[in-house]
Amino acid sequence: MKKYLFFAILAFSTLNAQFTDITIVKEVKVKNKGVVVSAHPLASEAGAKILKMGGNAFDAVVATQYALAVVYPQAGNIGGGGFLVGVKNNGEKFTIDYRETAPRKAFRDMYLDQKGNANTDLSQNGRLAVGIPGSVAGFFATLKYCRLSMEKLIQPAIDLAEKGFEITDKEAELLNANKDFFLIHNKISNAFVKDQNWKAGDILIQKELAETLKLIQKNGQKGFYEGKTADFLVKEMKNGNGIIGLEDLKNYKVAERKALEFDYKGNQIISMPLPSSGGILIAQMLKMSSFENLQQYQQNSTKAVQIMVEAERRAFADRAEYMGDPDFIQDKTAYLISDEYLKSRWKSFSFNKATLSSAVGKIIPQTKESTETTHISVLDKDGNAAAVTTTLNGLYGSKVIVSGAGFFLNNEMDDFSVKPGVPNMFGAVGGEANSIQPNKRMLSSMTPTIVLKNGKPYMIVGTPGGTTIPTSVYQSIVNVIDFKLNANMSVNSPKFHHQWLPETVAFEKNFPETVIQDLEKLGYKVERWGQLGRTEMILIDDGGTVHAVADGRGDDSIAVE
Ligand code: GLY
Repeated sequence: MKKYLFFAILAFSTLNAQFTDITIVKEVKVKNKGVVVSAHPLASEAGAKILKMGGNAFDAVVATQYALAVVYPQAGNIGGGGFLVGVKNNGEKFTIDYRETAPRKAFRDMYLDQKGNANTDLSQNGRLAVGIPGSVAGFFATLKYCRLSMEKLIQPAIDLAEKGFEITDKEAELLNANKDFFLIHNKISNAFVKDQNWKAGDILIQKELAETLKLIQKNGQKGFYEGKTADFLVKEMKNGNGIIGLEDLKNYKVAERKALEFDYKGNQIISMPLPSSGGILIAQMLKMSSFENLQQYQQNSTKAVQIMVEAERRAFADRAEYMGDPDFIQDKTAYLISDEYLKSRWKSFSFNKATLSSAVGKIIPQTKESTETTHISVLDKDGNAAAVTTTLNGLYGSKVIVSGAGFFLNNEMDDFSVKPGVPNMFGAVGGEANSIQPNKRMLSSMTPTIVLKNGKPYMIVGTPGGTTIPTSVYQSIVNVIDFKLNANMSVNSPKFHHQWLPETVAFEKNFPETVIQDLEKLGYKVERWGQLGRTEMILIDDGGTVHAVADGRGDDSIAVE
């Protein structure tokens, strides 16, 4: 493991007292070289290897995702879905939507009992929680932007699965903590459960997953969606209450969508449109906070936090009401991000007191946190940029492992609104726009984002964290553009989160206490959370130096070509 960490530790430094709980900053500064930032050193290294072989940012991001499916099984995946936002060095912008879809047998009230009560255990755990995986189709859809063959891009992942790799302390802890869930949902032995507890340095070998990856290498997309892998997956469904059939897998399709673009203070923001709410939310929040000239305040000061929380409140109320799969609902994006609409939305803002959530949207209660999902930022030396956020939804998704094929399946069905007003695992509520229908994509919060300055990549950013994703990306952007922080400080300084419901504002545990107390006096209800997100940021300064930062909150890591 040590030799891989070399790439991650080109620049370690200790932050000052302002960030008492986040002391390690991983930052690399390079020029004229490609960089990959991801949640795991071995995955970043797989991407950098591909850059060295002549691949571009899109080759690298595919290889990194395959590698994450092996070395970061809690969120990296071939059994889930994701979004890619890309900007080519000729200025072409594109997105690939490989979000999971609801199976053909899914229906609106499938998680309600006879009394009409929602059973979120079924939408969150086990086989009925699984949406049709989109990741592998997404990797193949990315190929047309790549230079190398899929055969080469998947090889690092095959090697990692076959030969195994040393797990970190955090990974050992997670595997041990989830052992009981793995045993509940999987009756057959698998790579993730052993008699003794896992410890740092143990080797995780995944032979079945290696065979699955080889089938994809040999047979292309059909190696996953048809034949042996598809048979294993459907058989796994029948080991319980799963409803995905062979036809579902064979018919899965990615969607290439026009990126959501808007101007922010002279910078062009390129992000993910529906079915992710992420792009719309950051557009709404950035625009609303600009009405108060956010840049005049200090980062994380009472006034700055108040403005941003109120912007988050109004944006998330709209998320619950209007957002869903644009192939199934009327897409109101243009209206929702228009200055006219947002100015009217902002009229109720006052510095004197907290706005009540009931004043900006139709209410119902909640609360729960989870930070799964994972993000990759890549820039190659030719100036191509890729931002990918990918997910199984919860930690290890549904906790169901496809026996014979060795990969975890998502629990993405919980991202639908299982019943209007009933919170999902992130506490988000929704209504008809995000109701379940066969083949529909569930609403997401993933926000892979590229910011352009003078038409060239300036920032590549994203994070995991469910509904905290858009608010973390929002903070990362204003930290750089409004508060003029460097990439390190922007990623690693303490964050906060609000999502309309619940009424509370969540603060990372090292957030300045005096600001929290000031906000409480203004009527804000607060809670302390451990950590928010794992942001991977690449920032390119005016002199062309690339500042890559891997979030200090996890094992996140940078690899240079
Ligand atoms: N599963 C998290 C999201 O897509 O927002």
